[in-house]
Order: sequence, then C-alpha cells, then structure tokens
Amino acid sequence: MNNSLKVLYDEHEIITGAIETARSAKSLIGINDEEYELAISELIRFFRVYADQYHHHKEEEILFPEMAKKNELLADGILKEMYDHHTWFREMLKAIELDFEHKQYLAASEKLDEYTEALVSHIAIENEELFQAAYTLFSDDELENIYFRFVDLDRELGDSKKLDLSELISELILEVKN
Ligand SMILES: [Fe+2]
Ligand SMILES: [Fe+2]
Repeated sequence: MNNSLKVLYDEHEIITGAIETARSAKSLIGINDEEYELAISELIRFFRVYADQYHHHKEEEILFPEMAKKNELLADGILKEMYDHHTWFREMLKAIELDFEHKQYLAASEKLDEYTEALVSHIAIENEELFQAAYTLFSDDELENIYFRFVDLDRELGDSKKLDLSELISELILEVKN
C-alpha cells in the first residue's frame, strides 16, 4: 500500500483507541470523578488537536480537494458529507467542552457518546469507501505527492506534539482500564 493513505488509516486507529477510552471512562462517573475529569479533559484535548487539527485538516486541505478536482460527483456527494461531519464534530466538541467546564458531567458524557458514535461511522465510511476511491483516482506519483504534503502539515503543526498526543492516548487506555 502506498504510504500516503496509510498515514490516515494509522491516525484512524489511534483515534479509535481514544473513542474506546472515552467509552470506558464513563464507568468512572460517580466512582472516581477526579479521574473521570482528568481523562475527559485529556480526551477533549486529543480530539480537538489530534483528531481535528492533525487529521481532519489533512483530509480537508489536502485529500478532499485533490479528489474533488478529479471527480465533481464526489465533491457534491461523499466529500461534502465528510466536510459536514467535520463541521458537526467541531461544534459538538465545543458543546462538550462547555458542559465539561460547567461540571455538567452527565450532559458532557451523553454528548461525547453521540460524538464518538458519529466518529466511528465517519471513520468506517472513509476507510471502506472514500480511501478506496482515492486509490483508484490517483496515480502512484500523485499519491506520493499527497504523502509529502501530509508530512509537511504534521511538521508545521509539530511532529513531537503529534507523538505526545498518541502516547497520551496509549497511557490513558491503560489508566482507564485499571
Ligand atoms: Fe474525516
Ligand atoms: Fe478521517
């Protein structure tokens, strides 16, 4: 498999780990609120920075526009749907943050459930339909070019910050499980 889309598949896997952690963290409500608070604030940060800034921006600024150039039907169809999801994710995350700041944990947790559920199906559509379509649309050279643009975007945002966030999720998975 050409490297470029593997970057996105790998990010999806890390985001999926965060989604599972968000789900497990719910069991802490009322039992260990302090730990729940800490886990959720880190997860919110992860979703805002890693899932949105690093991941969704790669799709929105690089992959989707390149796909749209190749096929207008995609632009008005599945790509528009994916952009709309990203916008909804951002709004939802803001609402979750607000509930969380006001210590409305149950409301925050319900919204977080809705957010993670939608993110799971969003990722499934991209993995199973969109990225497959991308492989048929682009030549190897084009895919390589996309890959280098992904690398540049990560570098601009900070490679070490990205690594720290994925490590944070691995640690959080262990902490929440114990
Ligand atoms: Fe996406
Ligand atoms: Fe994605």
